[in-house]
Amino acid sequence: MPAEDISEKIARLREEINRHNYMYYVKGEPEISDAGFDALLNELQRLESLHPDLITPESPTRKVGGRPVEGFTSEDHPTPMYSMDNTYNEGELRDFDRRVRKRLAEVGREDPSYVLEPKVDGVAINLIYRNGNLHQAITRGDGRTGDDVTHNARTIVDLPLSLYTGEPDTPDDFNGTVLEIRGEVYMPFDAFRSANKEREENGDMPFRNPRNATAGTLKLLDPSVAATRKLHIFTYEIGIHGGLQLPDSHRETLALLSRVGCPVNAGIGKYAQIDDVLEQCTLWESQKAELNYAVDGLVVKVDSRRHREVLGHTTKVPRYMIAYKFGAEQALTTVRDIRIQVGKSGQLTPVADLEPVTLSGTVVTRASLHNFDELRRKDIRIGDSVYVEKAGEIIPQVLKAEVELRNGDERRVSAPDSCPSCGEHVEKEPGGVYIRCINPRCPAQVKEKIEHFASRAAMDIDGLGSVIVRQLVEEGLVSDCADLYGLTMRDLEQLERMGSKERKLARNILDGIERSKDRGLSRVLYGLGIPNVGSHLADVLSERFSSINAIMEADAEQLQDVDEIGPVVAESIREFFSKEAARRVIGKLKNAGVRLESATGKEAGHERFRGKRFVVTGTLANYTRDEIAGLIEELGGRVTSSVSASTDYLIAGEKPGSKLQKARDAGVRILDENGFERLME
Ligand code: IVH
Repeated sequence: MPAEDISEKIARLREEINRHNYMYYVKGEPEISDAGFDALLNELQRLESLHPDLITPESPTRKVGGRPVEGFTSEDHPTPMYSMDNTYNEGELRDFDRRVRKRLAEVGREDPSYVLEPKVDGVAINLIYRNGNLHQAITRGDGRTGDDVTHNARTIVDLPLSLYTGEPDTPDDFNGTVLEIRGEVYMPFDAFRSANKEREENGDMPFRNPRNATAGTLKLLDPSVAATRKLHIFTYEIGIHGGLQLPDSHRETLALLSRVGCPVNAGIGKYAQIDDVLEQCTLWESQKAELNYAVDGLVVKVDSRRHREVLGHTTKVPRYMIAYKFGAEQALTTVRDIRIQVGKSGQLTPVADLEPVTLSGTVVTRASLHNFDELRRKDIRIGDSVYVEKAGEIIPQVLKAEVELRNGDERRVSAPDSCPSCGEHVEKEPGGVYIRCINPRCPAQVKEKIEHFASRAAMDIDGLGSVIVRQLVEEGLVSDCADLYGLTMRDLEQLERMGSKERKLARNILDGIERSKDRGLSRVLYGLGIPNVGSHLADVLSERFSSINAIMEADAEQLQDVDEIGPVVAESIREFFSKEAARRVIGKLKNAGVRLESATGKEAGHERFRGKRFVVTGTLANYTRDEIAGLIEELGGRVTSSVSASTDYLIAGEKPGSKLQKARDAGVRILDENGFERLME
């Protein structure tokens, strides 16, 4: 193809991809399937790799993150980023309303209307778009100067790298404009959970709440790691707007932001009476638990731009908006015990067993105390009455002990010198907070490692749960994951609770172990528990290398040639495989017939629905229930009977019944039979 044709084709592809992104993230009305979208993106990627000179920083292929940066530079905000006044009760909100009305009346203005937005608990960011392209992203910092985090902001899932021009009432192009768009970057709860799971598996301290996770991600040096964290954004204000006329009201400004492709959260509406505002505050406070992101209040904003100008700012905060903060839910309970847990990389974590207590609708019985430095700092003791709170509404945290309620019988737990599981000496990481058991044969560690190996996202061995793994390790029947492949019926029958009656269970486990041999390289890599290698990187590695041998032999440079692998990950992979024990396990896996080669075409197809949960409802024309379930499972998916927030797809046939509505309410993707068949392709 002649050069002009290629660049035209690339431009058309980018435009089409940007349009689909807009339809998906802003309008919520996708026109194509995920597979269709991936096909477009792959084609663009292919053309760009053939013509690297045509790559631009705004290309949708650049979202996966570029090269690491050395450090952060400070940048001035074109206009200052103010903070916001908070109110915590009705009286304070009414005072705000009175102040606003008084000031507007003094200058002969009409009464205000208020626009309400959720106060998303994330990190404020200032995005500078030049000529419609994302030029810089700066953290709030001290309000005048912040850190340039453009490299990470580019990976924000729903942030447009170039402003969308496909809607009416927007400029045909943004040439000659400079726009400051302010918004809140946040990590949805599901992304937060998986980021923390990965951190705990790697022996890193989990993030306290989604806000810390967001801040930590924006401050990463390596944007390819940031890309795996799935940050999102809501935009809410425009600062400088050189070359562009702004609408007269905030509502219209939000609508404009949305038309140019920036996600906004404007679902609450506009109110003239403070009583109505208060009613919304109560309503949202009671419903916030249903959202997939942390909201710690509502922001009440004067709508009219003229009104805003009249009201102006103090030195710190605008007088035309205020935050109404929800109270965080806390409860008082008792610490029954403090146990020490041994993780799969040997880290020792103190965990509080709590007298059960209900918090934001769920019963809390235990809470991690994170590490022994923290335990000492907070001075939490067995028998203490403690305040617990749910950080970001999901993970219970012990805030502090109520010292007044102590009676003298409370007992301190201090950092142990030896491992509670194997009794061997423990070590503190130099400069770190974790204490680790360094005995590779420690039964608690071995058990955690094997459980991880057998877990659903790894080798998915049915029936091999925590109790059985513990017995297998305690009986000395297995001491690493490869030993599973040598287990016999006799071995299993020997276990407690596994008499002849449970032969069926034993059979199941053996079948599960047998089936796991064919899961493929990516699952094995993930199952080995290499520090810093989660399931996504395991996929990436197995796509790039033909076999586990190739990975073991690769030097740091070859590993870093892979787009998403930086120096830290490369080093952890090398260190893992440099150990004699790891090499021995790989040898045993190979001898047992576990497939350690990379995905063939067949296997790539195999993995298509990996980790996805399906629910089937209604009568299907071409499949029985068993047939469709079989197909889904063959492709790595799971079929469950009821719809929940963790369902990925509902396949609906004739007369679908109540599950359809439930799926709609939960935002689950709904497919008919044709849709399902397209998804399979
Ligand atoms: S408007 C004047 N709108 O709350 C600066 N801020 O406590 C406020 N925030 O720094 C910008 N949701 O990080 C605005 N819908 C929203 C918001 C919001 C969350 C954050 C923002 C700000 C902080 C102030």
